[in-house]
Amino acid sequence: MYRFENALINGASGGLGSQFAEELLKRGAGKVFVTYRSDAGLGGCNGRLEALIQNYPDRIFPVKADSTKEDEMIEIARVVSEEVSEIHYLVNCVGYLHNSDHGPEKSLRKINEEQFIEAVRVNALPTVLLAKHFMKLMRHKKEAVFAAISARVGSIEDNRAGGWYSYRGSKAMLNMMLSNIAIEFNRGCPNVKVLALHPGTVDTNLSSPFSKNMNPDHLFTPEYSVKSMMDVIESVDKNPLGAFYAWDGEKIPW
Ligand SMILES: NC(=O)c1ccc[n+]([C@@H]2O[C@H](COP(=O)([O-])OP(=O)(O)OC[C@H]3O[C@@H](n4cnc5c(N)ncnc54)[C@H](OP(=O)(O)O)[C@@H]3O)[C@@H](O)[C@H]2O)c1
Repeated sequence: MYRFENALINGASGGLGSQFAEELLKRGAGKVFVTYRSDAGLGGCNGRLEALIQNYPDRIFPVKADSTKEDEMIEIARVVSEEVSEIHYLVNCVGYLHNSDHGPEKSLRKINEEQFIEAVRVNALPTVLLAKHFMKLMRHKKEAVFAAISARVGSIEDNRAGGWYSYRGSKAMLNMMLSNIAIEFNRGCPNVKVLALHPGTVDTNLSSPFSKNMNPDHLFTPEYSVKSMMDVIESVDKNPLGAFYAWDGEKIPW
């Protein structure tokens, strides 16, 4: 059995989310709850989530719901709490950088109200809703982790290149939410380590328009990135104020 028994991966249709689910199952987690928002997502990433559901029918628990909506988050929490009374490992992998209409803004001229609000809704809100509705299941005596995949560009102190307004801003907001969640969890469920994680640049749908000309040595596979982040999750000490780490264990300033 893996040292974290029950896990929830939010956004398991994506490249990093499906990899977290696979790695947790391989490491022997007892029950792995996975969320996905549409049937198309089951077949995404070459059908990885679909294959996991077939290969681990007794340990994977798929929940179809859109975690950017609070009523659906409540439903996720209801389904999970019918099955278990504790969650030990929770990672939010839902995130948004571009869609068919909008890419990241290179300058202020490109700011678009709809895209800005969508970035905050998708990149910051699910983590707060997860904290709100899963705090109860994380209040127990065992070791636990509450993490979200952020991005280095969300660090205000680290910002040197500018641009990508909505993505940077929404990840900075996510980081502030995690910092706040860490403080509240430290009072209410002090067993939980709260982390923001930077995965590196990883070969997924989210990065594909921007990684074509990258040196392949700097573009990670989801497997490499997730295994590295899991090592970081397992090895870093709990900080009562939360902390922001890159895949290689480097501490990033908020
Ligand atoms: N890949 C990288 O290089 C990189 C670098 C830094 C940070 N990150 C962060 O890592 C996280 C995971 O990204 P990824 O690389 O695994 O990308 P991905 O494969 O595109 O996965 C994104 C996930 O977010 C969900 N999602 C996207 N838009 C949504 C919306 N409007 N409403 C609800 N769910 C939505 C997707 O669901 P569907 O499958 O249903 O669309 C999917 O589960 C993101 O937060 C991203 O910002 C990635």
